[in-house]
Amino acid sequence: MSFEDVEAIPENDRNLVHTLIREEKDPKAVKDQLLAVLTAAKDPSSMTMAFAIYELARNPDVAAKLQEEISRVCGLSNLPTAAQIQEMTYAKCVMKETLRMYHSLYSVLGLQRRTDVWGPDAEVWKPERWLSHTAETWSFIPFNHGPRVCLGRVFGQQQVLYLLNKIKVLTAGTRLLLPWQQWN
Ligand code: HEM
Repeated sequence: MSFEDVEAIPENDRNLVHTLIREEKDPKAVKDQLLAVLTAAKDPSSMTMAFAIYELARNPDVAAKLQEEISRVCGLSNLPTAAQIQEMTYAKCVMKETLRMYHSLYSVLGLQRRTDVWGPDAEVWKPERWLSHTAETWSFIPFNHGPRVCLGRVFGQQQVLYLLNKIKVLTAGTRLLLPWQQWN
């Protein structure tokens, strides 16, 4: 696809690749930029989702509260709209607490588990803390801050919240087993 092909596409119909071709022109630069975004996008989102599932499986009381919220806001047999996702206060607490406790950058991980900042239970995964806590800018930086802030932070959070909705199975009568547990 050439620069001229992209110019012929109406602006509102252009995607990321179209925009990069328009800005960069050099095919190698387009490929490099695309790769940078795709690699930056994949791992942190999937890691956050994996740890959220892990903690929900270990904390059935939290999973039950999450199910109650999902059921109230969009019903257990529907997928949520973007607006409904924004209404899900408890789901956001689950997401934020997972982003606080689990992070691929050690510097962020260390900061977000400091007992002098987060209190004596800093090492405990406790979504409820977010119902009353407003983090100061530099004590909670899962997406970094300033000029290097994550470009996909809104999309990343939307992905995690959407997944929490999609795995309603967690609480809909299904019990997840951890490797060291047995059916009884
Ligand atoms: C829960 C999900 C995510 C987390 C926790 C996360 C976290 C981060 C962090 C901490 C940085 C800064 C790294 C640094 O300081 O060098 C970053 C950068 C970046 N992220 Fe994310 N990210 C997430 C999802 C995404 C998604 C979904 C995308 C794209 C669709 C994305 C695209 C990027 C890009 C392009 C950068 C580089 C920004 C720059 O250096 O100018 N991220 N992310």
